[in-house]
Amino acid sequence: MELPPRPQLFDFNGVSMTNIFTDNWDNVQNFKARPDDILIATYPKAGTTWVSYILDLLYFGNMSPDRQTSIPVHDRVPFLEICAPPLPSGADLADKLPTTPRLIKTHLPVQFVPKSFWEQRCKVVYVARNAKDNAVSYFHFDRMNLIQPEPGDWSSYLQGFMEGKRVFGSWYDHVNGWWEKKQSYSNLHYMFYEDLIEDSEQEIDRLCSFLGLSPSPEEKERVRASVTFDSMKQNKMTNYTSVPVMNHKVSPFMRKGTTSCWATFFFSISISVCAPFIIRLIKYCECSPSPGKVGDWKNHFTVAQNEQFDEDYKKKMKNPDLKFRCEI
Ligand code: A3P
Repeated sequence: MELPPRPQLFDFNGVSMTNIFTDNWDNVQNFKARPDDILIATYPKAGTTWVSYILDLLYFGNMSPDRQTSIPVHDRVPFLEICAPPLPSGADLADKLPTTPRLIKTHLPVQFVPKSFWEQRCKVVYVARNAKDNAVSYFHFDRMNLIQPEPGDWSSYLQGFMEGKRVFGSWYDHVNGWWEKKQSYSNLHYMFYEDLIEDSEQEIDRLCSFLGLSPSPEEKERVRASVTFDSMKQNKMTNYTSVPVMNHKVSPFMRKGTTSCWATFFFSISISVCAPFIIRLIKYCECSPSPGKVGDWKNHFTVAQNEQFDEDYKKKMKNPDLKFRCEI
């Protein structure tokens, strides 16, 4: 498939966008949501695929095994606003989903969400990730995804991120806008990537109680085991290796996960023998012993970039109730 040149960012009603996400605007805005639709909303790279897969397994994990081995998660959970011919648009795919409830993904800032979702009182799951790791993940994604604008070098990329000049606009406006919405719209579950890393079982329980689901302990365990980073990285239905516009040699979609540094290795085999020493070693190496990865930003930000970022962050993130963790 011959690819067009990478798209350019432009201002779209105050939000940086590319034509891939605005070309089908009228159809997206007129999308007819149904009351049992579930919208999964995120700023790009906040854990959309992870939560999409969790929800898909919770609802449809017991359906035919073929579904799990033959339909990629991005087809099971269509991306509402995407329009990249000759592929069918996300709105068309969502319209034709044969299953109920329909799980639909969006990266739209809250003010752009089609009004039928609010009118129908659809359940919405919003996932947010700390700004620093989110920026790093987005940078690598833009390197490998040929239908994203050229990212340039890390330093200018980070500057653009702080200025809101990334596809789907400002991270700061996105997470704040959705947080405000949650105050008036009770069918919105706002969750954090870091919490999911720290305690996936608890977060799956919270999701189930929001969605009104009560899976058996065995079903829950099956879901939890299927959605670990390593399982999803190996699984062709969740690792995006079938998507031709993504070059996984540049950077894999499932990029980080279980930390591979030596300190973590030592941690796992020697904890009982010399825990205090190992913990000091881990701190020294600035590695996280958690099973997922929070804090990869430390491998990318210089001290000066971090200081500038923190200064700017304070000005933009004034709501004391909305707190992110950049390490766990
Ligand atoms: P990294 O680039 O930091 O590795 P999205 O689905 O919104 O595009 O988000 C992708 C990010 O979520 C990637 O982050 C990816 O590795 C991470 N991710 C996906 N599944 C995950 C899982 N099961 N556990 C931990 N992180 C996961």
